[in-house]
Amino acid sequence: MKKNRVGGICLLIILFIFNLSCSFNNSNKKGMGAAKITTQHFGNFEGKPITEYTLTNASGMQVGIINYGGIITKIITQAKDSSWGDVVTGYDSLEGYTQKDNPYFGALIGRYANRLAKGKYTIDGIDYSAALNNNGHSLHGGLKGFDKVVWETAILAGDSSVQLNYLSKDGEEGYPGNLKVQVVYTLTANNAIKIEYTASTDKTTILNLTNHTYFNLTAGKSNTIYDHLVQINANKFTPVDASLIPTGELLEVKGTPMDFTSAKKVGQDINKVIGGYDHNWVLNKADGLQEVASVYEPVSARYLTLATTEPGLQFYTGNFLDGTLKGTKKDIVYNKHYALTLETQHFPDSPNQHGFPSTLLKPGETYHQTTVFTFSIK
Ligand code: GLA
Repeated sequence: MKKNRVGGICLLIILFIFNLSCSFNNSNKKGMGAAKITTQHFGNFEGKPITEYTLTNASGMQVGIINYGGIITKIITQAKDSSWGDVVTGYDSLEGYTQKDNPYFGALIGRYANRLAKGKYTIDGIDYSAALNNNGHSLHGGLKGFDKVVWETAILAGDSSVQLNYLSKDGEEGYPGNLKVQVVYTLTANNAIKIEYTASTDKTTILNLTNHTYFNLTAGKSNTIYDHLVQINANKFTPVDASLIPTGELLEVKGTPMDFTSAKKVGQDINKVIGGYDHNWVLNKADGLQEVASVYEPVSARYLTLATTEPGLQFYTGNFLDGTLKGTKKDIVYNKHYALTLETQHFPDSPNQHGFPSTLLKPGETYHQTTVFTFSIK
């Protein structure tokens, strides 16, 4: 009897110690994994306060996000020489981001990222016209897309994620249905920025979301991206006409300047493409989240990999940057080919191209997209 009691007490003590050690390990892991989030007033837009959320992880990497346009304002990462630098374009204040010709620096794009020919599309026999803003076409959601609205924001438990919500009302910019959009930005312990998009609608609509961050991995040390080595897992791309509307064909990249199947300097063939790269690549991938592209900058040794659930990638080399933007960070002159974008998306003009994957979203369905940018040193 006594023996049993002693045995029972010993077992209880062992269990208690085991439990303590487990909870210590868990809290330790949480402490290592979580980022720290600080907030700063960033101005006012249409009477609403704009806040910059700065996420900093345990290794010191930082990401800035504002609730105007869901814009990524900064990404500060380390180079091989241990120096830190901001690898994205942007401005010192909100006025920069709200200026008329801001080319979507860092912004969330919707409802329809990229171009819709003449803004026209048809759903269930009904013709719709999206707002025109680009040579007679509709680009990146029209006159006031998701990049120019104020998003509701919340810091999620764990301090590594900022959630943004926006209700796009029925008819906004020529799109049907009340569309609820949610985007969660997370900075992970392994230097990745994860962007998770979800959306639902009460009427059938079209939807194509992306983020329009411009990268220059030299962090201001070079004013072109010609020496960045880009690799894209895509055997095909969607050729475009002179106004950048897809012809509907899927062409092989092999033997053309569009071939990035092996890492290649951006500057190698850029002069063979009028204006530079501004095309959609058809990613070689199955459904689900998969690594699809990488960018390496040899001087800083910064290496960026891109994973996505989307079927397409718009690789754009800042062809329309012309040095005229005001209020840029440290007054940097953003000239042509200063930076590149990697816009994960469905193909441009899909609603009018029957051979392209569908961008329809129906009531009762949920749109999901995940895209992850991971930074390291190689
Ligand atoms: C996208 C387009 C480009 C250009 C930029 C913004 O990437 O494909 O043609 O309009 O946005 O300047």
